[in-house]
Amino acid sequence: MPLVIAIDGPAASGKGTLARKLADHYGLPHLDTGLLYRAVAFALVEAGIDLGDHAAATRAAETLDSASLSDPRLRDRAMGEAASRVSSVPEVRAALLAWQRRFASDPSGAVLDGRDIGTVVCPAADVKLFITASALERARRRHRELAGRGEAATLEGILADIEARDARDSSRSAAPLKMADDAVQLDTTELDAAAAFAQARAIIERARLAV
Ligand code: DC
Repeated sequence: MPLVIAIDGPAASGKGTLARKLADHYGLPHLDTGLLYRAVAFALVEAGIDLGDHAAATRAAETLDSASLSDPRLRDRAMGEAASRVSSVPEVRAALLAWQRRFASDPSGAVLDGRDIGTVVCPAADVKLFITASALERARRRHRELAGRGEAATLEGILADIEARDARDSSRSAAPLKMADDAVQLDTTELDAAAAFAQARAIIERARLAV
């Protein structure tokens, strides 16, 4: 039986780390869907095209090359903001939807993390987790991560970025960040990665027993 795990949540909530650990544990392929939006934004920035050019963003999404997803520059702070902008374009989302669904249809199942996995990409997922943490805790985590990569940024600046991204990702009309009705919420404000993983596993095991 394939196992599809949908993980959603706001920026820097810890969903990526959790998704990777779960994928390793269950031996499933993992897709960080934020990278798709980051790659579309990166293609525009590299070509000197304005992020507000919806037709160009749609073309970039339609011709996305999976090899480009491993570029470490996609993880830069500016790309998160740029990805959030192109992700509000419905045609960009439509072009990336088929891609994500193909990934999720792997015979063994898959772990996907993003903003609309439980609501739009995999509405029939076996388990849906919605990962949250306070904005300040998320800013602290992102600050540590950026410092570890030598990218200078103030905590206040990162907190402002995170709040702006939360507002944009939650208020857009196309597939906004929203917890699916049948998702289980996991607040990681007080949890480290190991504790979040243990709680997520318990939720998944309960869900599997219930079917
Ligand atoms: O998860 P992330 O920070 O890498 O995502 C970057 C942006 O991409 C995010 O601010 C909104 C967008 N995104 C989305 O709209 N839908 C997804 N499934 C994943 C990301």
